[in-house]
Amino acid sequence: MCGIVGYVGSRDTVTVLLESLKRLEYRGYDSAGVVVINGKGLLHEKATGNISSLETALNGGEMKGRTGLGHTRWATHGGVTRENAHPHFSCDSRVAVVHNGIVENYAELKASLSSRHVFRSGTDTEVIPHLIEEAYPECGKDPLRAIRAAMKRMHGSFALAVVFADHPDVIYVARVNCPIVLGLGDGESFLASDIAALLPYTRRVIPLEEGELARLEPSGVTVLDFDFRSKERKPLEIPWSLEMTNKGSFAHFMLKEIHEQKHTLASELIGRAEGLEGLALPDGIRRVVITACGTAWHAGLVGKLALEELARVPVDVWLASELRYADYPFGKDTLTIAVSQSGETADTLASVRLAREAGSTVLAVTNVRGSTLDREADLVVHMRCGPERGVAATKTYTSQILHMILLAMQLGRARGTLPDARHDQLKKELDLLPRRAAEILDQSEPLERCAREIAQDCSFIYIGRRYNLPTAYEGALKMKEISYLHAEGYGAGEMKHGPLALVDARMMCVAIAPEGRVTDKVVSNIQEIRARNGRVIAIGTRGDARIPAVADHVLEIPRCDELLSPVLAVIPLQLLAYHSAVKLGRNVDQPRNLAKSVTVE
Ligand code: AGP
Repeated sequence: MCGIVGYVGSRDTVTVLLESLKRLEYRGYDSAGVVVINGKGLLHEKATGNISSLETALNGGEMKGRTGLGHTRWATHGGVTRENAHPHFSCDSRVAVVHNGIVENYAELKASLSSRHVFRSGTDTEVIPHLIEEAYPECGKDPLRAIRAAMKRMHGSFALAVVFADHPDVIYVARVNCPIVLGLGDGESFLASDIAALLPYTRRVIPLEEGELARLEPSGVTVLDFDFRSKERKPLEIPWSLEMTNKGSFAHFMLKEIHEQKHTLASELIGRAEGLEGLALPDGIRRVVITACGTAWHAGLVGKLALEELARVPVDVWLASELRYADYPFGKDTLTIAVSQSGETADTLASVRLAREAGSTVLAVTNVRGSTLDREADLVVHMRCGPERGVAATKTYTSQILHMILLAMQLGRARGTLPDARHDQLKKELDLLPRRAAEILDQSEPLERCAREIAQDCSFIYIGRRYNLPTAYEGALKMKEISYLHAEGYGAGEMKHGPLALVDARMMCVAIAPEGRVTDKVVSNIQEIRARNGRVIAIGTRGDARIPAVADHVLEIPRCDELLSPVLAVIPLQLLAYHSAVKLGRNVDQPRNLAKSVTVE
């Protein structure tokens, strides 16, 4: 998922573009480029590699101008080359485009244009400036109408920013299925693919809605619909500070965000023991569907168990990329819960639109105010994690689990299925959670020792049961994402149905076995592995002697209610993946081939 930025105003445009691009690098970082307009026309520079490679290519050159666009790429169509980096230009180099999304019918469009236009790249995006160039004279040289005419010929998803040499002080923007946020300043205007990139300059933002166009000038922004009717849009004030988006003294954003959990868990709980503020759950809920992707899907799996235990309602958890093409029998009595930290994941949004069309009430759990999910859902619960910049989700995962549990408690109270005693007990346990997380975070030495044991060619199988089967999936995902070592999460009870064949000296087994209803079962599964000379790292409850007796390494967590144990048990696994990746010299915050927010299908 690419990141696009833009600026019009009196600051040094290239500096603003580079600063904002650095804050979007987690969206894609294989190549980058900028274009500025000045008296000499459209000047640009591109480079493969991350933003610092572009800075080197620019090496403080004289690219001055009041208006400019920037782009950081996550390649979908066309290899990682300087030619394929954005911006892309019309034949006369008087129109420049940066784009996030996919033009699905680009091959057909390119074929129809090639007799009249010269293509310089292998990307889907490059058809856009040529289509605009074609439409421009027919549209009476009206930039927005030419852009709209071009879009009518394109299928897919596109957040577009366009500059014209004819209009040196204006940026034109359009949005179909991909996020774009406008930033308001004094005598200057900004745009970016997400809010974090705007924070150094403004906290007053306007997220562009689906099917909107905009014109950015130093005097301000104008938002229009696709029929060019002007739209009144009230800016949002973003409660995030710039400091929240910096690493501070930590070596990586991921490590900072892991350690922030002792605070984020506490802030999530403030004023929520009796229920999530202002959340009026609909009556007559007979079924719950949870839709999400990646780490958020793992939080959904914990949500299923909590909702079925506390609210006694049947729950289906779906991978959003599957649900969007399934024939799921949503009904008016179905509550659909969409979990997404970014609020911009394309598959999750598509499944939400399906659910709403079928009359299901959609409740969103998201970390980004003003995100598409925040604006399209019927009900929203905002996470209080602050911005997450590490591509690997950590603090947002434990917060998502907490929201699932708070929702289950609230629905259980509403349905009369959660007795007072159990409710009170859970409230006490919740109050202790931030302190217990801090205890784990303050004991990193055993983790580093474990990570030192992990060899270059190690493979992993993570096992767990009940509330900690999702923990096994999440632990494996973290290890895969940032250390690039093969890792799989599996039901501990399923090992003897196949995966046990994988156990040998090269395989490291990570067993998640905190105290709970099935600890003894997991202990027997560990013994099955030990009987085949498998090596085992176990997550166990401090003081539970069963675990040290069967594991090579034990990473302890404080005693807690089993229902809350996934919040604590995942923290050592986040750190294990982190220390392994650092030891293997990986780019922890921007792992290869990944992006923080997956805005295309
Ligand atoms: C997790 O570390 C990954 N970054 C990824 O799996 C992520 O959880 C997934 O893309 C969903 O993102 P979302 O929560 O923003 O929708």
